[in-house]
Amino acid sequence: DSLFVGVDLGGTSIKVGLCNEEGDLLRTYEGPTQASDGADAVLSNIAAYVRELVPPGTEEWEKVVGVGIGIAGFLNIPEGIINFSPNLPFKDVPAKFIMEEKLGKPVKINNDANVAALGEAWGGAGRGVQNCVCYTLGTGVGGGVVLNDRLIEGASGMAGELGHITIVPDLEAIQCGCGRMGCLETVSSATGIIRMAKDAVARGDKTSLALVEGELTAKHVIDAAKEGDEVAVRIVSRAAFYLGKSMAVVALVVNPQRFILGGGVSKAGEYLFSQIREVFRKLTPANATEGVEIVAAELGNNAGVVGAAGLFLRA
Ligand code: BGC
Ligand code: NA
Ligand code: ZN
Repeated sequence: DSLFVGVDLGGTSIKVGLCNEEGDLLRTYEGPTQASDGADAVLSNIAAYVRELVPPGTEEWEKVVGVGIGIAGFLNIPEGIINFSPNLPFKDVPAKFIMEEKLGKPVKINNDANVAALGEAWGGAGRGVQNCVCYTLGTGVGGGVVLNDRLIEGASGMAGELGHITIVPDLEAIQCGCGRMGCLETVSSATGIIRMAKDAVARGDKTSLALVEGELTAKHVIDAAKEGDEVAVRIVSRAAFYLGKSMAVVALVVNPQRFILGGGVSKAGEYLFSQIREVFRKLTPANATEGVEIVAAELGNNAGVVGAAGLFLRA
């Protein structure tokens, strides 16, 4: 029986996991990304953590068919190249080739949110649904589109980069990590929510967020909004508004049955979801909203690892 390794490469940590043929996660190992050390160091870390997970030379290692890696960034998937990452130190790095050299196993790379979407579609909130679109709301905003049970990669692998849909009107737009203005990620990611809160505090707006001690987080902002803090309410509504608006666009392109929202910000729960649903229904023709559900992801932190292993498992 074969084994499969999945890697979730994030801005702060790298998680690796071992799956069997049924897609069960047998065990995981996690270590720091050390992004500031550069691309070579990050790729070497991945290799080291994979070897920690399954030591080469063991019987298990012989059973490993391939290593799938989910990466936050703009990839050329067919070529196996990381072209650019808003939150990682990669510029045109042939990651698939380098990792195959390091590990001596076949490697596939794909986008982190694509891979999480696959995980959710197969074994999470997308079970039983053939057409679903996932959003991951964390450091960035990621997306993954699964149609007729297949992940849509597009011509070069950019399909589903939902976080970089430029959606905020020019006068209110700020610059995104990708260099463009007004991307969804600038308002609906955890980073965007924190930035809006810090701006409000710096402006001297009357808000309980000014009293937070230590590092301000998106959770602080969401909790304050739930308590009725007007500044926080406005920030979270803005994040919800642009998410709902982007879904209205997506719905008219691919008409999914279900939108699945994961990542730290989605932990806001019904408070956030009800606002997104309202915006989505208001901005979308009824034909494309009828029966469409907007639900929370189910696999949590392991969606990325399981989905990445699935790049080989389900191939
Ligand atoms: C990146 C995406 C990634 C998302 C979530 C965005 O900034 O462009 O590729 O999926 O963050 O990590
Ligand atoms: Na994606
Ligand atoms: Zn962008």
